[in-house]
Amino acid sequence: MTFEYVSGDGSVRRISTGIMGLDALLYGGIPQRNQVMLAGDAGTGKTLMSFEMLYRNANVNIPSCYITLEESRGSLIENIRGAYTYFTDLDDLIQNNVINIHEEQAINAFSSREAFQAFVAGLNKAIKSNNSQIVVLDSITTLRPIAEDDRVFTRSVNTLIENFRNLGVTSIITMETQSDIMDESIGLFGTFMFDGIIKLTSEQVKGNTQYNVSVIKMRRSNHRRASPPYEITSKGFTVFNP
Ligand SMILES: Nc1ncnc2c1ncn2[C@@H]1O[C@H](COP(=O)(O)OP(=O)(O)OP(=O)(O)O)[C@@H](O)[C@H]1O
Ligand SMILES: [Mg+2]
Repeated sequence: MTFEYVSGDGSVRRISTGIMGLDALLYGGIPQRNQVMLAGDAGTGKTLMSFEMLYRNANVNIPSCYITLEESRGSLIENIRGAYTYFTDLDDLIQNNVINIHEEQAINAFSSREAFQAFVAGLNKAIKSNNSQIVVLDSITTLRPIAEDDRVFTRSVNTLIENFRNLGVTSIITMETQSDIMDESIGLFGTFMFDGIIKLTSEQVKGNTQYNVSVIKMRRSNHRRASPPYEITSKGFTVFNP
């Protein structure tokens, strides 16, 4: 699913997200080796969307690593299995380590410099174990309350991003936000650190929850400036008419 796409900004190798409407917003996919924040309100689908990207790529033999800081490995697999009943290759892909689901304990990551290095080393070991090309880190929101303050948090996120960059992987890093204070909450963490930002929002419209997705920025690429609605079904994400 990696292919050359020639646009105004030159030829960029892209990783398809495997979600058609999202690829359309991205003019084909995420430029390879970009470090992308997937920001969204609670329950908007950050976990399911990021997992689907890995699943679609695993189906074309692109190995990946899903690092869960939030949920246990078992609980994550249960959730994915429950939500995506049509993902029939799921168990095989996990068993064969095409998708390496790795649970990392972050609770002591900030107790010392060595502890943080050990935390990063744990991630790297998991990423290298199957030669991952795509990495999901779900979520950095988990790190905020255990970091001393915003500066320590921001610095640690930056270290993680630079580490992924050095490994040469494309990464999706999820972060929980609240749409009403979204700009401030993203601003806190220095969006310049990320090559791209994809945002999921939820909104009450006539008593129903409506979900929308937009690409805020994507380095080394053009992208569409639309916020199409999406839905999540047992077959995955559908992004409508981008
Ligand atoms: N088993 C399921 N069956 C049907 N819908 C599900 C299932 N699991 C999740 N969903 C739907 O998908 C939505 C998104 O779930 P997901 O866990 O990906 O969101 P999230 O943004 O990661 O949330 P959080 O902020 O809790 O991390 C849920 O709010 C729910 O409506
Ligand atoms: Mg989640």
